[in-house]
Amino acid sequence: MGTVDQSQTPYADALTRYAERDTLRLNVPGHNARVEGTQRLSGYFGQRILERDLTPFLPGIDSGEGNPLAQARDLAAAAWDAEKTWFLTNGASQANRIVALALAQLGVSQQPIIAQRSAHSSFIDGIILAGLSPVWISPTIDHHHGINHGVSPASFEAALVENPNARAAYVISPSYFGAVADIESLANIAHRHGIPLVVDGAWGTHFGFHPDVPESPLRLGADVLVSSTHKLGGSLTQSAMLHVAKGPFSQQLVEIIDRTFVLTQSTSSSSLLLASLDIARSALATGESDIATAIRSGDALRERVRAHPRLSVLSDDFGQFFDIAAHDPLHVSIDVSGLGRSGHEVRTHLMTEHHIATEIATDNCIVAIIGPGHPVDVDRMMNALDLLARDTPSESSKDRLDLPAVGEFRMIPRDAYFAPSEVVDAAAAVGRISADTLAAYPPGIPNIMPGELFTGEIIEFLQHTVMQPGGYVRGSITEKSNQFRVVI
Ligand SMILES: Cc1ncc(COP(=O)(O)O)c(C=O)c1O
Repeated sequence: MGTVDQSQTPYADALTRYAERDTLRLNVPGHNARVEGTQRLSGYFGQRILERDLTPFLPGIDSGEGNPLAQARDLAAAAWDAEKTWFLTNGASQANRIVALALAQLGVSQQPIIAQRSAHSSFIDGIILAGLSPVWISPTIDHHHGINHGVSPASFEAALVENPNARAAYVISPSYFGAVADIESLANIAHRHGIPLVVDGAWGTHFGFHPDVPESPLRLGADVLVSSTHKLGGSLTQSAMLHVAKGPFSQQLVEIIDRTFVLTQSTSSSSLLLASLDIARSALATGESDIATAIRSGDALRERVRAHPRLSVLSDDFGQFFDIAAHDPLHVSIDVSGLGRSGHEVRTHLMTEHHIATEIATDNCIVAIIGPGHPVDVDRMMNALDLLARDTPSESSKDRLDLPAVGEFRMIPRDAYFAPSEVVDAAAAVGRISADTLAAYPPGIPNIMPGELFTGEIIEFLQHTVMQPGGYVRGSITEKSNQFRVVI
């Protein structure tokens, strides 16, 4: 972060100055920040939001050399020690699509990209758009909890040795459950093989901003970092950042990402989302004490969960997995199988009966996410879990399904997506090539992607997911996942 004053928020301040001027607004947005005729909108959101909701290309805001938006992006680049940072208004999903489309310009469409199989479905969308030909590396799998972790340096090295023509590599860290990969070793290996390493760090925006959270992947050698700032960075939903590191690939990567940013960003990016990124960056870079508050809350919750006879903390077992180098203290992953209910049931129960919203559930876990500056009412959470424990028999939930093995790879995703296809019933889909990406949500990791063969096990898992409270399958053509689109 160097000597830059990170308390500044130049873009957010420029919006405020604009809002406070008496401007006759004869431009979009059509609400014109008027008081008359916008009562429903301003009554709902407050007049300040309307006043700061501005069209792009305004002098003194986002147009002209050194404008406040450019300053805000430069401050973000300084905060992450990046060569360049882009502000995105369609989430880390956009960042993943940008990355895939950018990598295609490195010659990856002819040569493979080495990628972790448990990538978020937005990266698979990017692979389809860009026509990439992925070589998948399996993450380690925690079969007891039915979840994916990360990629170990040894399996990463083996994949690169087996695919000497690979042009780039892509991994995810941290996982949805807070498992952090050994990015330093992965980056060293990638660089030894002459290729850049992309890290989807959607869940680790706060990394590097406090000594007790893991270091930012960019400072450990990653070349590109996907960051879902709205997740734990405190910006508004759908705002995100993409960073390119200072390093051996920076010039080439900045050029191609600039091109693909234009291809994917709205020409009317929301000033509200952009301002929230400016403020979130400043809050992270100057907010060690806020992160410390969240860490203390996470620690307190973990302690209480450990002390509970029927609950346990998932990250306490992370030491068993070779790929996991650290864990994020702001993710509190709780094994609830001892309550005799599935994680989905527990999550829904907490929401409906106690108005406690947790982030993710699987068959036997729930994950609580604690944002910086947020002291958690640990008693409230534990009382709710205690009540549930009292109401339910002491036995493990019975209907857990293991993660299904990946189906055989038959066609590159883009070819399968655009191939002639038909919709068939589930039973008839077994042994056929999927034309769609189907991802059980949460967490949204594709169980099958275009070009892979359906198996009975995959279909059973998808159908099991949609039966769970809060479970759905992204990309499914029917709510019950009883029909699928297959290549003819
Ligand atoms: C690993 C990972 N990458 C990317 C995304 C997409 O992020 P966003 O919701 O900001 O588009 C998610 C969303 O959950 C994710 O978990």
